[in-house]
Amino acid sequence: MCGIVGAVGHQQCSEMLLDSLKRLEYRGYDSSGIVTIHNNAIALRRAVGKLFNLDQELRAAPLAGEIGIGHTRWATHGGVTTENAHPHVAAGRVAIVHNGIIENHGMIRQRLQDAGHSFSSDTDSEVLAHLFVEAFDAGLDPAAAAVKVLAEIDGAYAFAALSLDHPDLLIVARNASPLALGIGDGACYIGSDAIALSHLTRRVIYLKDKDFAVVQPDGPQIFTADGTPANRESVIVSANPGLVDKGGYRHFMEKEIHEQPDAIAHSLAAMTDSDGRLTAQMDETKLAAINGIVMLAAGTSHYATQIARYWIESLAGVPVACEVASEYHYRQPATGPFSTALAISQSGESLDTLMAMRHAAACGMTTIGLVNVPDSTIAREADAVLPTRAGPEIGVASTKAFTAQLTVLLCFATALARAKGRLDEASANRIHKQIQALPGLVGKTLGLFDHIRPIAHQMAQAKSTLYLGRGALYPLALEGALKLKELSYIHAEGFASGEMKHGPIALIEDGLPVVALLAADHVMTKASSNLREASARGGRIILIAEERAAAEVDYADAVITVPDVDPLLAPLLLAVPAQILAYLTAVEKGTDVDQPRNLAKSVTVE
Ligand code: AGP
Repeated sequence: MCGIVGAVGHQQCSEMLLDSLKRLEYRGYDSSGIVTIHNNAIALRRAVGKLFNLDQELRAAPLAGEIGIGHTRWATHGGVTTENAHPHVAAGRVAIVHNGIIENHGMIRQRLQDAGHSFSSDTDSEVLAHLFVEAFDAGLDPAAAAVKVLAEIDGAYAFAALSLDHPDLLIVARNASPLALGIGDGACYIGSDAIALSHLTRRVIYLKDKDFAVVQPDGPQIFTADGTPANRESVIVSANPGLVDKGGYRHFMEKEIHEQPDAIAHSLAAMTDSDGRLTAQMDETKLAAINGIVMLAAGTSHYATQIARYWIESLAGVPVACEVASEYHYRQPATGPFSTALAISQSGESLDTLMAMRHAAACGMTTIGLVNVPDSTIAREADAVLPTRAGPEIGVASTKAFTAQLTVLLCFATALARAKGRLDEASANRIHKQIQALPGLVGKTLGLFDHIRPIAHQMAQAKSTLYLGRGALYPLALEGALKLKELSYIHAEGFASGEMKHGPIALIEDGLPVVALLAADHVMTKASSNLREASARGGRIILIAEERAAAEVDYADAVITVPDVDPLLAPLLLAVPAQILAYLTAVEKGTDVDQPRNLAKSVTVE
């Protein structure tokens, strides 16, 4: 998943393109590049690594030109090299940037090489540049050329092309991967999302799948894949705070961990109606009619669904299936009792989750999108939207969006249970009151950094770690392990505590760190005896627990406690010290906390 940008009509555009790429760096940071046309010549600058390197290149050799395109890369095909960095230029005449995967690129490349085209990279994307050269050589005009190119390629794509053949316009197209067209005053812009354009214009057109556009300074001409003119509404997107700074914190992740009390309070406010009642933001009759929910998500969002299943099934008595989005999309699901699909995504752009939601819709389900980005594709395509109000999350490792998702899901479960008559008004209000107390409780856990630092120092020496939890804390153990993996590159695995004795306990040897999540809930005693089994085999127990639960465990090597809380809310509160442990371990190891290797914030390829 990469970020693409473009501009036509803007005075000297390279500075502006670089600025837009900075707003998209969360999408990939393996390499980057910008190309412009000036004095009827193509000028290219590319650099491996962070955008900072491209910035240095441009300072050393600035680019002139009022038309240009740019790219920040997350490598899918071809190693991280300058040759594989975008933009790709073919025949010195056509340049392209691309986000997505051209699945039949191998066949196309072979055909073009047989026809005499020479390739300079190992990427799938480069075929696009050569296909446009071929089309222009055949005398096709820009729209006809686009029709020919789209007819030949398969896969997910958002791309932009510029050419010396037609130096005053861009050709852009999308299929599944996101693309926004920004309408300015005598200029037009393109970006992988509206965030990239927020400092230039808020008037945006979102192309539909298989649409393409010929973009000139005075506006775009939009067509469907077969060249039929199409009209696409422009929308005014929500104002974006633009480039977010770290607010004095060392890392965005550290800042976002500290922003959780606000993220939870704002998300709770979004789930409270004008009478101060919890709401699911939908008609109560429709809510009461929900008789089965399929939850679709990836990564951390997937673990949020697994925690929410405990709440929805126990409070509302509605069956819930938690599906890994990338698997669900290619399954023939027996939809049976499931009337509703709830797609959960921080970015609202994860392609696995988007395609799974489309699949569920095609199977006749009503779709709900629970997202943190209001203008995202999932929000635009879902039948209903549940918003988290965590604010922009820049750190690749999700923290405040996760606890905001849990807040919204607990509100949803409570409103659903009330609509179904499983919870009376008083009980629903009791849960509401407990959620209202959460920002304060989470605020208290933010004081744990100094206590956890020495524990993290030891954890940083480990080669692998186990995370254990039982009940709703089992998926939190999975999330805790994911955080440690993606941030510190230490191999970590989460298990249901009760499952250990069926095999994984064989992994335990002297000194192996075992992070144990414990709450004073109905499975505490069972969970505690599972921990004792791990300790008995030499596991070094790092206990993350409510104060009253910690009192039950006298054999832990390190103890991190949070204030006592209703078992319903324990997963939300215990998530914070698990985040802090992973963060401080990564800081100890000196890894790139906000942009871990091989990752990106929004995954727009399958
Ligand atoms: C979490 O820390 C990771 N960044 C990743 O697992 C993420 O949760 C996943 O890619 C899903 O992203 P989404 O919520 O934006 O769809």
